[in-house]
Formats: sequence, C-alpha cells, structure tokens
Amino acid sequence: MAKVTRKIGLSLGADICWPICYQEIVKRLDLAIDWQGDKVGVEVERVTIEPFDLRQPCKYDVVLDRLTHWFHTSREWIKKAIIMDGLYVLNNPWAVQSMEKQTTYCAMMHLGMPIPDTWMVPPKSYNPVPDLKETLHSYAQLFDLGKIGKKLGYPIFMKPYDGGGWKGVSRIDDEATLRSRYEESGVMVMHLQKAVHPFDRFVRCIGLGPQTHIVKYDPGAALHDRYTMEKDFVSAEEAELLRDTTLTINAFFGWDFNSCEALHSGGVWHPIDFANPCPDSQVTSLHKHFPWLVKANVRWSIYCAVTKRPMRRTLDWAPFYAIAAERDMPYRERLKGYARIAAERFETEKFEEFCARHLGHLDEVAWEFFGTKVARDAVRAKVAALFPAHEVEPFTELFWKRIQAWRADEGRS
Ligand SMILES: Nc1ncnc2c1ncn2[C@@H]1O[C@H](COP(=O)(O)OP(=O)(O)O)[C@@H](O)[C@H]1O
Ligand SMILES: [Mg+2]
Repeated sequence: MAKVTRKIGLSLGADICWPICYQEIVKRLDLAIDWQGDKVGVEVERVTIEPFDLRQPCKYDVVLDRLTHWFHTSREWIKKAIIMDGLYVLNNPWAVQSMEKQTTYCAMMHLGMPIPDTWMVPPKSYNPVPDLKETLHSYAQLFDLGKIGKKLGYPIFMKPYDGGGWKGVSRIDDEATLRSRYEESGVMVMHLQKAVHPFDRFVRCIGLGPQTHIVKYDPGAALHDRYTMEKDFVSAEEAELLRDTTLTINAFFGWDFNSCEALHSGGVWHPIDFANPCPDSQVTSLHKHFPWLVKANVRWSIYCAVTKRPMRRTLDWAPFYAIAAERDMPYRERLKGYARIAAERFETEKFEEFCARHLGHLDEVAWEFFGTKVARDAVRAKVAALFPAHEVEPFTELFWKRIQAWRADEGRS
C-alpha cells in the first residue's frame, strides 16, 4: 500500500481561533485512511501571499478559503488553481464574487421561497464617471419613494443590495424616515424590503457541505449573546424545512459553506439573508457552537481531500429550474426535490459513510482537545484581538465556560 499525503491549505485573513483548533485537531487525528489502495494521511498548512506564475503547479488538494472575498491576488490564484490544477476550494470563488444578495433573492424567489417583497432603487448619488451625466439625463426616471413605501407597507428594511455585516441597514417605520434614510444612503444601491414583522423566532442555519446546524438568533442582544444557547426552539418538521432550505441555497450557488438567516412569522419561515459565503466563524460570536463549526470543517475538508472530490467549476441550475417549473406542485414538495439535488451534489450518503468508517475518533479527539490549554489559548488570542485589555480575562472565561458546557453535553451523549 502506497503512503500518500493530501494537503489542505488554509487561506486566511484575520481569523485567529478556528484555524488553531482546526490544525491541532487534524494533527491529533493522525490519519492513515485506507483509500483505494493507498494509506492516506492529511497535512494542513497556511497559504501564503506571493507572486505566482500562472503555469506553476499547486501543491494543495483542498483550500479552505476565508480571504478572497476582499483579497483579490489570492482570489485570482485560487481561480487559476481550480482551472489549471484541479484544486477543490471551499467556496467557489466565482460564486462568492458574483452572487450578491440581489442575485440570491431573485434565484430563491424563482424557486418559490417565501422571500419578503423586495424592491431595488437607484442610488441617491454617484461617484463621478465620464458618461454619468449623459446617462442619467437620458434615461434616469424620476420616481416617488413614498409610493414604493406604500406598496410594500411599513415597516421596511433598507439595506445594500450586496450587503454584509449589517452595514447600511436600517428599519423604517414611516414615509418621512424612508425619505431621510434614502437621502443619507449616498452611493449605495439599496433594497427596500418588507419587514417580517412581527416575528416570533429568528434562526441562523449554518451549512458546511451536507452538514447543518440551526441556532436561535437574537439580533437585539450584545454580540457575544446573539447566537443563543436555547434548545428545542424548532419542531422536527421545521428543522427539516430549514435544513432543506439551507442546502438548496448552498447547492444552487456552489457554496460549501454559508449561513442562512430565516425569520418565522404567521406560520411561515421567511429566509431574509443567505448570501453569507464567508460566515462568522469566531469563538467570540459562536462560543458554544464553535466546536460544531470546527468539527464540521474538519470532516468536510478531509472528506473532500481524501476522496479527491472534483470541484464543480460551473453551476448547473437546470435541474432546479425543472422542479421550479412544476407550479402545481406544493412548495414543500418542490423544496424536497431541490434538497434531493443538494444531497446528490454534496454526496450526503457517501460523506456519512466516510465519516463513520474513517473519522470515528473525531468526536473523542475534539472533545479532549477542547479541554486543553492550546484550545483555551486560542480562545484567549481571539478575545485579546477584539476586546479592551480589562475585558480579556472575563470574556475568555465566559467563552471557555460555554465550550466546557458543550463538552458536558457531548460527554453525556
Ligand atoms: N425583511 C426583514 N425583516 C425583518 N428583519 C430584517 C429584514 N431584513 C433585515 N432585517 C434585520 O436586519 C439585519 C441585517 O439585515 P441582513 O439582510 O441580514 O443584512 P447583512 O447582510 O448586513 O447581515 C438582520 O439580521 C435582521 O435583524
Ligand atoms: Mg445578515
């Protein structure tokens, strides 16, 4: 049996905590997987930033990317490596680059998802470019913002069509506020979206390959308490619906890794924000859910690396559209159809079998690791990067206690 090594690269920016935990856990797994006649080990290293020859080979089998949505040299290196060297990347860089919120709303509306009514409006002002005056003079129509507000009905959310991190988001309760917020919105191209109001539950469903994790979310809480630790806040059917929704979105856009926000009102779960292909992965927000994320990352990236899962370079939407065309089929049935495509694309069955056969020791390794000084130091390093000096100890302790609560739960099960 030949001994071979698969290489996983971490393409990182300011992430601190999860890569330390991820690397340490993979090391402790000490893999030697029997795979198609080979003994396969896995090595992890961090991808560096440097000049590259477009024809140079790539040493990685898989790259886990958290950088290229804003760092374009690395993005272009990744694209080259997918096209020329057969690299597998989480996430598809073309889909990250071009599928902003607007595209995702349109696509998921087309699939029949109950996305709230949404309008796009031209921006209040423009950065000067040579053709601007002529273009606006010839074609820009005067419009009455108040009419759009009335059509949608208040409250409304105004937010950038390509938003993220709550930048430029405001809730608007009347026409006067709508007008003044628009005046202030500058060059941002905005959506006006009917609020899901009142809602009784707000969830974030994190998807990593075929794995999902639903967390009840409290948008009004302090940053470290937004991901709540509540349990049993959705029924089994609701959990399945949220899982199907998230995996449909992720398979449709070729995102291995994404988080989907949905609000529940009047018996319906409305997805409102699901273009998050570089979602929050920090212990300082995920705390008790952080070990789930690290383990899910480990499982999926090792599966992709060991099995040499081929990268889907193009997004094939035709099978989704074929189901969407069945307008007489109830929505829940259509969604099940989309989820079946997602299960095929994420190789759910094969993945679960692989984990059971080759990663059976992950639970124990991770459980042990999250009790070590290395893990605590990783938490502290992240806290120290974000919090003022006098809060570093108390917040490290808070997040650490929550991780230990996760260990207690896991230990019991
Ligand atoms: N249609 C909506 N109904 C209710 N709340 C909303 C709606 N749209 C946005 N929000 C609130 O505003 C926050 C930010 O909006 P979101 O679309 O998630 O933007 P971002 O991409 O910046 O996270 C959401 O987490 C939610 O609390
Ligand atoms: Mg959001």
